[in-house]
Amino acid sequence: MKTVILIGALGKMGQAALTGLGKHKVITAGRSGDVDYIVDITNEQSIRDLYKKVGHFDAVVNTVGVCEYANFTEMTESQWMTTIMSKMMGQINLVRIGQEYIADKGSFTLISGILNIKPIPFAIADATVSGAIDTFVKCVSLEMPRNTRINVINPTVLAEAWHVYGEMMPGFEPVPGKLVGKAFERAVDGFITGEVIIVDA
Ligand SMILES: NC(=O)c1ccc[n+]([C@@H]2O[C@H](COP(=O)([O-])OP(=O)(O)OC[C@H]3O[C@@H](n4cnc5c(N)ncnc54)[C@H](OP(=O)(O)O)[C@@H]3O)[C@@H](O)[C@H]2O)c1
Repeated sequence: MKTVILIGALGKMGQAALTGLGKHKVITAGRSGDVDYIVDITNEQSIRDLYKKVGHFDAVVNTVGVCEYANFTEMTESQWMTTIMSKMMGQINLVRIGQEYIADKGSFTLISGILNIKPIPFAIADATVSGAIDTFVKCVSLEMPRNTRINVINPTVLAEAWHVYGEMMPGFEPVPGKLVGKAFERAVDGFITGEVIIVDA
């Protein structure tokens, strides 16, 4: 059994990830609500405080990445920065700071999303940072200390979120959260590193 910090645990992707972490002691974290620890992934001190308060942990699973949606010609710098500071720098900082605290042979699992592979209107910021995170994971895996592994889950839309995003995504087939949970399980329990685990229908 590993101690796993699940960030964004109350969100739709967090709940999907949770289905794959049944063997482990899961410590939940998020920005608000009924979680074990409150953390803001856009704030370095908040990230550091989380790791210090938890103490020993073997894995970090992050499912947070706030994105702004608009046409490219209308998206403001502020909307770009919100997306970059959450889904890109927030995740990079979770790893950059977390590598100091994680147990030997630990693992990080991040979130991206299928829109960098299958683009749709309004999603240029999400697609761009998802591509950045996929690249970050592949490359930084070569530099991780103490046999720390790192992977990213790149799923299509969840069946549980189809009612929110389905209209924006004609021709896409949603996947059940349980299937995405398997990808998180493979990342945490397996021996792979530097992988982009695509979950698509
Ligand atoms: N849903 C899908 O079908 C799907 C598919 C592929 C990829 N993704 C990606 O998965 C990620 C999560 O999506 P989701 O659908 O799970 O969103 P969600 O249901 O809105 O959940 C997001 C969670 O993250 C928390 N959060 C937001 N900002 C935070 C911060 N700065 N620090 C800590 N926690 C924060 C939220 O807390 P509060 O409620 O307190 O704000 C919420 O619990 C996104 O990057 C999305 O692009 C989602």
